[in-house]
Amino acid sequence: MQRFQLLIPLLCCLAALGLACQDTAATTGAAAASKDWWETAQFYQIYPRSFKDSNGDGIGDLNGITSELEYLKDLGVTAAWLSPIFKSPMVDFGYDISDFYDIQPEYGTLDDFRALIKRANELGIKIILDFVPNHSSDENVWFKKSVARERGYEDYYVWHDGRLNSSTGKREPPSNWLQAFRGSAWQWVEERQQYYLHQFAVQQPDLNYRNPAVVEQMKRVLRYWLNEGVAGFRCDAVPVLFEVQPDAQGQYPDEEVSGLTDDVDNRSYLKSELIENLPETIDMAYQWRTVMDDYQRIHGGDTRVLLIETYAPPAYTMQFYGNRSVEGAHLPFNFNLITVPASSGFSAKSVKTAVDNWLLTMPAGRVANWVIGNHDQRRAASRYGVAHTDAMNMLVMLLPGASVTYQGEELGMTDGWISWADTKDPAACNSNSETYEQFTRDPSRTPFHWSSGANAGFSTASQTWLPLAENYKTLNVEVESAAAHSHLQIYKSLVALRRSSKTLQWGATKYAVLNEQVFVVKRSLAGSPSFVYVANLGESAAVTVNLSEFDKSLPSLLTLRIRSIDSSKAENSLYESNGLSLAAGEALVLSSN
Ligand code: GLC
Repeated sequence: MQRFQLLIPLLCCLAALGLACQDTAATTGAAAASKDWWETAQFYQIYPRSFKDSNGDGIGDLNGITSELEYLKDLGVTAAWLSPIFKSPMVDFGYDISDFYDIQPEYGTLDDFRALIKRANELGIKIILDFVPNHSSDENVWFKKSVARERGYEDYYVWHDGRLNSSTGKREPPSNWLQAFRGSAWQWVEERQQYYLHQFAVQQPDLNYRNPAVVEQMKRVLRYWLNEGVAGFRCDAVPVLFEVQPDAQGQYPDEEVSGLTDDVDNRSYLKSELIENLPETIDMAYQWRTVMDDYQRIHGGDTRVLLIETYAPPAYTMQFYGNRSVEGAHLPFNFNLITVPASSGFSAKSVKTAVDNWLLTMPAGRVANWVIGNHDQRRAASRYGVAHTDAMNMLVMLLPGASVTYQGEELGMTDGWISWADTKDPAACNSNSETYEQFTRDPSRTPFHWSSGANAGFSTASQTWLPLAENYKTLNVEVESAAAHSHLQIYKSLVALRRSSKTLQWGATKYAVLNEQVFVVKRSLAGSPSFVYVANLGESAAVTVNLSEFDKSLPSLLTLRIRSIDSSKAENSLYESNGLSLAAGEALVLSSN
């Protein structure tokens, strides 16, 4: 339950030069209460296909995950979110589910899943599943029954006759809507003589949320996996759950052209005002939250969480949190650190904008979260630049709230290169050999690097489902664990600091851009040491910063606690806050004592 009596308004005051922003109120009162587990959690996303293969078929599986849960424990992870593990023809690698109540045989069995949960419980790691509410696979029995108009399933999906083109006299799709993986969002079915809607691949028909039976079925899915002991769900592609309804003539309206691209098959060719971010969707998230809360009330145990995937505008995204009268998602994912640099370039300024976008719009009393990568994006180290790997891992752990790691970010894994012949992602396969690299999500899905051995210790197969990234011999768990200083060691120090520090869990947050290329964050809590994160996010120039320009209350000497991989400074040594030199890419976590 959100504790409204403790709501602390997020106050932001622009300090000197309009650069610094301070959440002043967190120091007051709040430290008296306790935090629920998810509020400061370290979430870790596992892409099961690429994490660990236990049976030598080149594909990761549940037993592989179970065998490496101790690795997660060692990292300090609170909860692992597994991308879909359910029965699927794997057109969209598990996001096309043919049976929501069973495990994909390639990944194992329900008993394997139970063994995974048991081991995770023993280690104190929570398991979160991916809930894919918007669509099923076209191989799902619900869809087959719907095609056949079987009683009770007629309207399980979004069906329409299409419209007649008055000049050609031919039948055409009901509207101009486009799917995420290129081309029309409507598919004709000969047997039923109607089109169905699919916001993703043709093989991913959209479920019809205007049908109460569908709403109930999907709540059943949630309860089923809660009964298997999961700690919550990451809800997939939520903003596309509902579309506008047909008009009085029974026709769907067309989307307007966006002007963003000339590529007529690309979804961004059109605006997405009729097929995304509808108010009905927000209410559905509130209903799922009720399922979570009711379950906990009846069965006890820790809070079951809802994390929502949404790349929507802030005003829409923030509604997922709920409001004064209703609870929503515990955490709608905050993708600003991905999307803002993607549109305006990576810089201290864009990082500040990304942080502002969340902290200045989040409703009072809610919990922030920070995400820098996932299986749909190029890898963080490749996007921000390898030199900024530690800076970004530090940032997401120094900012207030929960933090989410995509597998491999702790190692600084970069994108693998995948040839057109090896390409698997439908988003790329629907394009061509010339353009696929603009669309492909395969590069961030290459197998995890466990060691320098064959297939990076991921699998004993002669071939893995996707090729490995080339740099696995130097960038892997084995090498980085043995090294004195590595991305992995830095990551572990950060998690440990976050878990042990009251300041990082409870403290006020202040941040600014200094010298154009340095981003600085201060976390402070009365009676506890303050922490300062300072990172030179520039490409080549070293700079010297005067931290008192940012915060006059900082002591003249700060202790270095954690440093980025190439930093030549020494941990536990004192550094002048008024003349702190930072090489390009250097990032530090310092403390007031
Ligand atoms: C989400 C998933 C993505 C998938 C899509 C359709 O965006 O993260 O991988 O392709 O939904 O389910």
